[in-house]
Amino acid sequence: MTREPDTDTDEPTADGADTDATRQDPLPDGGATGADDVALDPWGSSTVSDYRKLFEEFGIEQFEEVLDEVPDPHYLMRRGVIFGHRDYRAVARAMRDDDPWAALSGFMPTGDPHIGHKMVFDEIIWHQQQGGDAYALIADLEAHSARGLSWDEIDEHTRNYILSLLALGFDPEAGDLYRQSTNREVQDLAFELGIEANFSEFQAIYGFDGETDVSHMQSVVTQMADILYPQLDEPKPTVIPVGPDQDPHMRFARDLSTRMRYFKVTDAFASFELTDTERELVAIAYDHREEYAEDLDQPRCGEAGEWLADYETSAGEARDAAVEKLDNAGKEPLRPRTRFLDRNATDAAFDALVEEIDGEKRRYEAHVDAFDLDHAEAEELARQVEVDHGGYGFIPPSSIYHRFMTGLTGGKMSSSIPASHISLLDDPEEGYDKVKAATTGGRETAEEQREKGGKADECPVYELYAYLLSGDDDEFAKEVYEECVGGERLCGGCKEQAAELMEQFLEDHQEKREEWEDKLDELDFEFDSDRKRASGD
Ligand code: TRP
Ligand code: SF4
Repeated sequence: MTREPDTDTDEPTADGADTDATRQDPLPDGGATGADDVALDPWGSSTVSDYRKLFEEFGIEQFEEVLDEVPDPHYLMRRGVIFGHRDYRAVARAMRDDDPWAALSGFMPTGDPHIGHKMVFDEIIWHQQQGGDAYALIADLEAHSARGLSWDEIDEHTRNYILSLLALGFDPEAGDLYRQSTNREVQDLAFELGIEANFSEFQAIYGFDGETDVSHMQSVVTQMADILYPQLDEPKPTVIPVGPDQDPHMRFARDLSTRMRYFKVTDAFASFELTDTERELVAIAYDHREEYAEDLDQPRCGEAGEWLADYETSAGEARDAAVEKLDNAGKEPLRPRTRFLDRNATDAAFDALVEEIDGEKRRYEAHVDAFDLDHAEAEELARQVEVDHGGYGFIPPSSIYHRFMTGLTGGKMSSSIPASHISLLDDPEEGYDKVKAATTGGRETAEEQREKGGKADECPVYELYAYLLSGDDDEFAKEVYEECVGGERLCGGCKEQAAELMEQFLEDHQEKREEWEDKLDELDFEFDSDRKRASGD
């Protein structure tokens, strides 16, 4: 597992704390999924039987908790289809404050785009409409190296993904479309990031071993570069909408973005270093200085140590370690300060940072303490100096996670099982037929259904309503749900309605695709890979 240097998970009081993870979703939605255990594998067949585990085991946060901070949230957010996030607050804040921010996602062109991909297309498009810089990329290097597709196949699929994205409303003038193989900046950034990544991490995160192709590994650093690409001009909050199978990539990208930074800003109380938990305890001791300091304006470390030794906490070990550090510092004054640790800075950048700190400061060999800057100002200054001295100043990328759609035949929705999904290229009548043939959460007999109601939460057809067919109309989605569980709705009619809506959607979508067909030439995008010759495809 990778380190997560930016998240302070070890709060002194958090031991065994309840994480809200058992709460219900804000709106009823189809929670039907396969029965596998949680395994987040970007190249495997991820299904998630228990979304709660993602919160508990992987530290993904519940989307519900940021929902209020999002101006005019998308229906996938309102319905709990987007169920989790990392750091989405930073993006929501930029949205509200009209600061620069971006959204990016990528697609491996391994088959036809289907209604599962539509969710991600819609997420990118929505973020674009909310004012973000929007990026969509085709992960052709990944498809070629990790999945072994030929360049011909890749080109065909690429065209289809781009057409559907445009037909659904992506604005190519305002946003960015690229394929990995032709984006030199992404490849250069991938190379730089590769300097921070090593093979043991690939083993730990992705299970790579001695048999793993080098190009597959290269496609991983390429994805890391994709994720950070929107920040090449300037650091900005960036959201990556993906399925939870991509979370290992997000953790790694967040980690790399932090490791690339010139300085790490922390809070300190004296010359020595503290862990996050120790720091919180020392902060508590500092706040109680009236109880022990001989000179209130200058509490001493030793005095604070003596006080802290008797402090009741579940984090006993951290307390003891903090007490020892305080004791060792003896008469040194205990005094809050902001600390800049030199990570990867050039000498010139470190000098410039020291120079630019306002107010009282103290310079050490590999860090500098500032006494009159608050944490946020210090972060800002560190980033500014880094960017001015040739660094990237990356902000750790944020992510949002959507639920996987259940296959129409039950089980997992899979590109390789045509009956399990509806392709955006399916004939509208075929789409109609697939919905009519879908598994439902209905009861054995109509009578039983009227009596007990249907099981909308386990019904792939209800999912179609919630994820796609109801569009922005929450009332309609709710009506279907309530009529179903209340026994007023029977599956035959319900499927007929869904099938008709699906047929209509596909007709409209394909009409819009055709309109874009003629305009593809105007786009700055290479639809024909010139790698064909090189690889002999
Ligand atoms: N690995 C992703 C997939 O399998 C595709 C991808 C490549 C991607 N680069 C990305 C997704 C950047 C999100 C962001 O579908
Ligand atoms: Fe599913 Fe509709 Fe049947 Fe309810 S009535 S179980 S939503 S098909």
